Amino acid sequence: MKKDDTVVLETALPNLTLFKKGKVRDVYEYDGNLIFIATDRISVFDVVVPTGIPYKGKVLTALSEFWFKKLAHVTPSHFITSDIGKMGAVGGKDAGLAPFGNVLGRTISDALRGRTMLVKKTCPMPVECVVRGYLAGSAFKEYEETGGIQDIKLPRGLRQSDKLSEPIFTPATKAEGGHDLNIPMKRMIEMVGKEVAQEAVDKSIAIFVEASRYALERGIIIADAKFEWGFLGEELILIDEVFTPDSSRFWPLDGYQPGRPQPSFDKQYVRDYLESTGWDKTPPAPPLPDEVVRKTTEKYLEAYRLLTGKDLV
Ligand SMILES: Nc1ncnc2c1ncn2[C@@H]1O[C@H](COP(=O)(O)OP(=O)(O)O)[C@@H](O)[C@H]1O
Ligand SMILES: [Mg+2]
Repeated sequence: MKKDDTVVLETALPNLTLFKKGKVRDVYEYDGNLIFIATDRISVFDVVVPTGIPYKGKVLTALSEFWFKKLAHVTPSHFITSDIGKMGAVGGKDAGLAPFGNVLGRTISDALRGRTMLVKKTCPMPVECVVRGYLAGSAFKEYEETGGIQDIKLPRGLRQSDKLSEPIFTPATKAEGGHDLNIPMKRMIEMVGKEVAQEAVDKSIAIFVEASRYALERGIIIADAKFEWGFLGEELILIDEVFTPDSSRFWPLDGYQPGRPQPSFDKQYVRDYLESTGWDKTPPAPPLPDEVVRKTTEKYLEAYRLLTGKDLV
């Protein structure tokens, strides 16, 4: 991929129906499938920041594609192609100029190349599937208060960032405002049934184990990861994004030390900056200084490079 300064915060595709606008993605209906566009939006504390992060959408897209292919022998996924030339209406020369972003004057296909996937449209399971190999984030918080996470009991004396004896599955739902809320397994079973729940658990653990083993060889600990699964007919397939800095906690193996938070390959600069401004974490968020943006782009590109062994740019 050539270096370029495209930043896409919003999209507007003429002639296509918007299926969903998430915090990061704009998703359009397309011929029975979905056009799945990762913008350069970044959300912190569940609020989308007004400043875009160059390359973020491209890293999320390329890294997800990398993993969908790598994990294909374990599970089918929604991935069809990221080749914009194969997405007729938006990819072709006739698609016209992009009426959005800092890409005015460029064609739609230029604006979307590298950040767009054609995916199978599914009926998403209403549960976020989280697998944790290490004790961090909301799980650590809950553990400190209750000695476990929801209905999972953990051994006493674990420290922040400690490795768990085996990966655990901790489901969550999206509460109001996009906040994730941990739920007990029995709640997940009430929502989706015992069989589907078991299948989601087994498949989530299987890809977590596979990806963790691979990442560790490349010097990265996958502390935890969030997956989404969707029904394609009767079949449960892996959807959304997978093992990206937005959906997983990546820690450098070098310097890993339990008993404290670990440095990570993600939004830490943005979080730290926003905390330092005294912003009250309700929208709108303040814009980000260039330096914070630049360092965050570097973090995303570095995660891609370390995991895939290739430079995106
Ligand atoms: N194959 C698919 N079929 C249907 N919905 C999907 C598929 N893949 C992802 N989604 C949905 O598309 C949205 C992706 O947008 P995103 O910006 O990541 O949203 P969020 O703010 O919820 O994280 C999510 O709501 C996700 O559930
Ligand atoms: Mg998402």
